[in-house]
Amino acid sequence: MRILVTGATGYIGSHTCVELLNNGYEVVGLDNFSNSKKEVLDKIFLITNKEITFYEGDMLNKEILRRIFSENKIDAVIDFAAFKAVGESVAKPVEYYTNNISSVLNLLSVMKEYNVKKLVFSSSATVYGDPEVIPITEECKTGGTTNPYGTSKLMVEQILKDLYKSDDTNGICILRYFNPIGAHESGLIGEEPSGIPANLLPYISKVATGKLECLSIFGDDYDTPDGTGVRDYIHVVDLAKGHVKAIEKLLKDEKGLFIYNLGTGKGYSVLDMIKAFEKENGVKINYKICPRRPGDIATCYSDPSKAKKELGFECTKTLEDMVRDSYNYEKKNIA
Ligand code: NAD
Ligand code: UFG
Repeated sequence: MRILVTGATGYIGSHTCVELLNNGYEVVGLDNFSNSKKEVLDKIFLITNKEITFYEGDMLNKEILRRIFSENKIDAVIDFAAFKAVGESVAKPVEYYTNNISSVLNLLSVMKEYNVKKLVFSSSATVYGDPEVIPITEECKTGGTTNPYGTSKLMVEQILKDLYKSDDTNGICILRYFNPIGAHESGLIGEEPSGIPANLLPYISKVATGKLECLSIFGDDYDTPDGTGVRDYIHVVDLAKGHVKAIEKLLKDEKGLFIYNLGTGKGYSVLDMIKAFEKENGVKINYKICPRRPGDIATCYSDPSKAKKELGFECTKTLEDMVRDSYNYEKKNIA
């Protein structure tokens, strides 16, 4: 079976290419390298000893998509390609809506031209806004997103729901990720944020290597056990495996629109993460307490039981694996 992976050289895309190849799938990749590097392709080969068929191009250009579908018989698509920086999306809403929505519309229309009906889409826990209940189930209300990035995910989810309503022979799987962290245990692929990281683990890793001086903890007065924000961190390799499960489900010729949380179901605070990182890696993290970050919520973790029941998906990596692999990648790759 041949899977088109858009955003194939990005953080989650590259790990998913590895898991697909390890599971015997053929992979066709597409990326415009707007947030990743060509070298990732060599790293995927080093890890798996298998090649992917790769196209460099922008999904805003339908012709590259037509070329891919005409040159390869695609059985299903996993769509990772998007811009993902929350803060940047507030400053550049038009760019974010254009890239994150028009790319999907182009993909869907070309999939229709080539009669490909199976799609896995990268969504985010951000679509739940400030959740009403914890742990968050897929039935929880969505909406109340506080930035164009989150709203773009919500909008694409609506587009996919409308598409399914119009043609129930589609098989669509919307995956809502919680907080992906970590890296492949080889240290060859991982997350490489450009500039100063906005996310917690990349920031902690840079404090650990001395590239940044001190972590700012954004608030210690939340209604959480230690006052700092609580999140559901998921190892990127577990997350990638969740995509293989979703593809398996769709390829079994299941038609429908399915929505799954991909998380561990466990919540850890910022201070928990610092302590785990220090203990596992034998380093000290300087931090200071700062005001809350606008738009942040106190607590966000998943009820992962639907993905377990229907996809047979369960996380196997521990918190120690996550903080160790994050640091390992940072030490090996970020000069
Ligand atoms: P990433 O930026 O590492 O990967 C995205 C890839 O898509 C990049 O390689 C980029 O070059 C490529 N790309 C972007 N626009 C493109 C376009 N128009 N045409 C071709 N390629 C394009 O991000 P990631 O962390 O791997 O995220 C993958 C997906 O998961 C995204 O849709 C993101 O919104 C979603 N997601 C990520 C997180 C997270 O915390 N990392 C959480 C929830 C959801
Ligand atoms: N935090 C700090 N200091 C930092 C960075 C983060 O204290 O320098 C705290 C935040 O306040 C929050 C926690 O660490 O309590 C996690 O923050 P991240 O920025 O790592 O992650 P978020 O939960 O804010 O957001 C992430 C992605 C979003 C996605 C969301 C839900 O960045 O794209 O998870 O999936 F929408």
